[in-house]
Order: sequence, then structure tokens, then C-alpha cells
Amino acid sequence: MIVGYVQTSPAFGLQEKNFRQVEELTGGIKADLLVLPELFATGYAFTSREEALSLGEGTGGPTAAFLQSLAERTGGAVAAGFPEKDGIRLYNAAMLVSEVGVLAVYRKIHLFAREKFVFDPGDRPFAVYPLPSCAVGLMICFDWAFPEAARSLALQGAQVIAHPANLVTPYCQEAMRTRCLENRLFAVTANRIGSEKRGEQDLTFTGMSQVTGCKGEVLHRGDNTGTEVRLVELDPAAALDKNLTPLNHLLDDRRPELYLT
Ligand code: ACM
Repeated sequence: MIVGYVQTSPAFGLQEKNFRQVEELTGGIKADLLVLPELFATGYAFTSREEALSLGEGTGGPTAAFLQSLAERTGGAVAAGFPEKDGIRLYNAAMLVSEVGVLAVYRKIHLFAREKFVFDPGDRPFAVYPLPSCAVGLMICFDWAFPEAARSLALQGAQVIAHPANLVTPYCQEAMRTRCLENRLFAVTANRIGSEKRGEQDLTFTGMSQVTGCKGEVLHRGDNTGTEVRLVELDPAAALDKNLTPLNHLLDDRRPELYLT
């Protein structure tokens, strides 16, 4: 299957402009699964919950429609981050969309730093969704720091993790090698570049989007300077083999009765 990331440079609050950037970057490409960054159409550094609410939307909104048209064009599924407004609730969410519409929404469970002042924490468990090409799980950015996230997806059969991100620390790319190795699955981490100086926040996003293999290998890592689309071919069936050695099955050898929660 062909997976890919779109590394973008969103302009804060300028949804149409951010849609156009994705359109220009993805012209002519075909992919079974394409991953865009966290909050790709709105930007990240909200100064208040009210500001984020004003840019929030549901699965009937313009971002879902844009992603559906992108999925039609690329011939596969698309995963991308958006601020999900649901009544008075607001989530840092990601949707999985195909040419037929929204397949799933994941609400970020582990909020990072000042996101805690803006968003409600995700209220649904990690989940896995069947695509024609593979079983895909969603997590968002800082979820990388919690091994339980990727493990929950692996236990449900995820072969590929779609991982929209807005990274500002240097740890995730190397950590994802371990997340993928210890669960024997693939991950597509789509990060953004650029800076946002808004209110008390002065953030620089670190790029280096990454496709990680199920043995912890970096199949591709981008740079931190430009926008780009990168496609990688992988065999999702490799993620079905959880044996690290003939005598060690990474899921069956767990001893949950001895783990603290
Ligand atoms: C992050 O979770 N956006 C760092």
C-alpha cells in the first residue's frame, strides 16, 4: 500500500488559504492513506477557548468536505486534525475520511501544555477502523508520549497508525521508532513547520514528518524547512507478525496482571 504525509505550514485562522496549500502540495498524487497535520486548517496557538470555538466545526463542516474531495482525488483515505465542536464541547480531534465521507473521529486523549486551557480531553477510547488497504488507528501528536496509546491500537489490530502532529519538542520521531517496534506496526507522523506567536505563546514547529516501519526503522523522515508531500510504499501484512523472536510474541507475552495502572 502507499501511505504518505503532507507537511504543511498553516497560516493561523486562514482556513481557505490552508486548504489551498494542501491542494497545491497534493496535486496529482495517489495514496491509500494520506495524513495531514494536527489542526491543519486553523493553526494551533489559540489564545482562548472562545477563539478556538469560533473556528470549531462538526463532521458536516467545510474541513470534512475538503478532506472528502481530497480523498476522492487521491483515491484513498485521508486523516487530518481539526477542532471539533460538539455542542458546548470542543475537542482537538482528527477525522478519517474517504470518498464516501467521514469514517471516524478521534478526540485527542492526552492534551499538551496550554491545549488544556482550550480543549476538552478526548472522551472515547482509542479505536481502529478497517480500510480496504489495512486496519488504521488514529492518535494525535502528544499521544506519542503515552505507550498505552499505540498499544491500545495494536491490541485492536491496527496495522498503521495515522498520527497528525504539531510537534514543538524534539523527542517524538525517535520515540515513534520504539512505539512501532514494540507493537510491530507502522506509523505516519505528519507534522507542520513554521512559527506562531500569539498571546503568551511563541511556538516553532519542528517538521521532520516521518513514516516509521514496524521494526522501528525510519522509512522516511522529512526535513524541518519546507512543506512537502512524501509517499512511501509498505506492506501492512508485516504488521500482523507480532513475533520479535520465534518465542516472543509482543502482545501475548504481556503480563498485565503484574502491571500497575
Ligand atoms: C502537541 O501535542 N501538539 C505537541
